[in-house]
Parts: sequence; C-alpha cells; structure tokens
Amino acid sequence: DKGGYKHFMAKEIAEQPQVISEAIGHYFGASGHEIRGLDNLSFDGVNRMVMVACGTAYYACVVAKYWIEKLAGIPVEVDVASEFRYREPPVGDDVIALFVSQSGETADTLAALRYCQGKAKKIVSVVNVAESSIARESDIALPILAGVEIGVASTKAFSCQLTVLLTLALEAARQRGTLSADRQADLVSALRGLPARLNIALDSEGVTEQISHELAEARDVLFLGRGQMYPLALEGALKLKEISYIHAEAYASGELKHGPIALIDPNVPVVVMAPRDALFDKTVSNMQEVMARGGKVLLVSDRKGIELAGDGIWRSIEMPGVEDLLAPILYAIPAQQLAYHTAVAKGTDVDQPRNLAKSVTVE
Ligand code: F6R
Repeated sequence: DKGGYKHFMAKEIAEQPQVISEAIGHYFGASGHEIRGLDNLSFDGVNRMVMVACGTAYYACVVAKYWIEKLAGIPVEVDVASEFRYREPPVGDDVIALFVSQSGETADTLAALRYCQGKAKKIVSVVNVAESSIARESDIALPILAGVEIGVASTKAFSCQLTVLLTLALEAARQRGTLSADRQADLVSALRGLPARLNIALDSEGVTEQISHELAEARDVLFLGRGQMYPLALEGALKLKEISYIHAEAYASGELKHGPIALIDPNVPVVVMAPRDALFDKTVSNMQEVMARGGKVLLVSDRKGIELAGDGIWRSIEMPGVEDLLAPILYAIPAQQLAYHTAVAKGTDVDQPRNLAKSVTVE
C-alpha cells in the first residue's frame, strides 16, 4: 500500500521522521540519555573495527567511520563486501567485525561475515530484516526498525542505519571514556530533536522538485562533499544514477583539483553537500573553483551557509541548522528527493529501476 503516494520510494522518504523516532525510542527510551540494548557489546580489548557492506549500506559505514574514530578513537576500516571477502584480510581477536545490510541476505556481505567467524572478537550486524541470514549468523544483531522497505532504492533504511551506527559510536565512546557525560547528553538531545528537523527538510520538496526538472536535462552530474559529507555525496550520486539513469559521480571536495575539475563546464551540474561545519570554508573554496570554470553549483546548506556562499551559485536547497554530527542523516533527505524527482521528471520506473533487484542474493 503506497498510502496515497505515487511511489513506494516517496512514501519511504516521507516516513523517515517517524521510523527514526522509533529507532531512537528503541535505543534511548522515551526520555533520558542512557543507551539501551547495547550492554552485551563490549569494546574492551578492541583495537580496530572493520565495517563491511554493499551499496548504500556501505556508504552508511563510511559515515560511521568518521563518527566512531572521532567519538571513540577506535580505528575503523571500511570495505565493500565483494572486495573484502576475496582479499582475505587479517582479522584478529581484537577486532569487532560489523556488517550492515537492509535485507540481511546480500550474498557478498554474508560471505564476508562468514569469513570473519572464528577470527573476529565479535560479529555484529546492523540489519532491517530481523530473521535474515546475516542477523542469525551474527553474535549481536542490532535492528534498525525501518519497517518494510519496498522501493529498490534504499532510503529510510539508510537513515535508520546511520541512526543505529551513531548510537553504537556513542556507546563505544561511553565505554572508552572518550566523551564527557555532558557532550554525550547534548548529542542524545540533538538526536531526539532530529525527527523535527527531518520534517523541515522534507518541506523543501517543492524547491527540490523544481530543480529536479532542470537536473533531468543533464547527461552528467557531479556530487561533492568533505569529511562525513563525502559519503553523502557518494550516496546522492548512487541514488541519482540508479533511478534516473543519469551518469553521476561523487568526489571528496579536496580531490577536485586532482582530476575531476577537468569535467567542469556549464552542462555539468555540481551538487555540493555543505552544512556549515568546521570544513565549510574549505568546501566553499572548492565551489568557487567550480564556478570560476563556468560550473553550475547546486548548494545544499543552511540559510547562513547559502548566504556566505554568495551570488555565483546556480541553485540552492536550504536545510535547517543541525548539530554537526547529525548532518549526514538530515542531508540524506535532499539527496533522496533530488534523485526521486529527477527520475519522476524523466519518467523512469522509480520503484523498480531497470537491471536492479531489491535483495542481491547472488554475487
Ligand atoms: C541502493 C541500494 C543498494 C543496497 C545494496 C545492499 O539504493 O539499495 O545499493 O544498499 O544492494 O543491500 P542490503 O542493504 O540489503 O545488503
């Protein structure tokens, strides 16, 4: 049941404030700052984490790497499952191996998990389907509580994966003593305020839809982001190519001048994901390099960020302000809506894009 929406994807994008509230309720209760349901996950004697997944779930892992390293100081290695499984990387008993999968049945991710069994200290999974193979074969399976996701392009599962991975980063930091109780409380309060911000972000839909009509004319689109927003750029590009069939690439903003800047011309829109965080000024200077070469910049930022970026930008999508660490979850909304409305404008099959399957059970 599409609940009045034209596509399951639209419904699932709109459900995010609700399902994230549910995930927050599950891991933090109705009030307070204490984390629940992670007491059997000990970071004692853990020197490293490896995180393995495919596609959108892999990008959630890349965001989580920034969070876990920053909050808990644990080195994190992230890999796509198809690479990890055949590389036979060293995994010792000081390693937590973490697998992220919406379906819990992705063949490469499951094979990577089995490779780590008997080697890693703990096998942890972050899954949507609780009775899936990946959940069953893990020592600890953390539910993301996104509810059934039908659209082939993952949307609410991604933001719920991020919510659970941030919770895990907070728990690791708590156990390690790397985060003051005050800062932990602040972050949990900010997380509780996130669904309201997601609702505001959803309200930008009209603007996003208009821009999407123009984006639908492009043959190629670039996405840029820095730090924890780099994986959001990757996710935005994947979503766009997956459902609109427009060629899209993402780069870490700082990589621009190492090659991709050669692609910039007035026909290549450049989507810049830039919340006003510590790296904002750097990203603005990358944006100016794009504009100086005639590139069309679509800036996604908050009001002040858009103001600071100046007149030269082509289009902008305004996000509400948010605690820095939560920006990847909030900015998932415009990334998804851009892809969705561009695909609708092109008339492609949004929920069942060509050549793709919801659950990839063969490698
Ligand atoms: C992209 C998408 C895919 C999946 C990937 C992993 O929108 O949906 O990239 O994220 O196939 O699937 P799961 O999470 O089921 O392991």
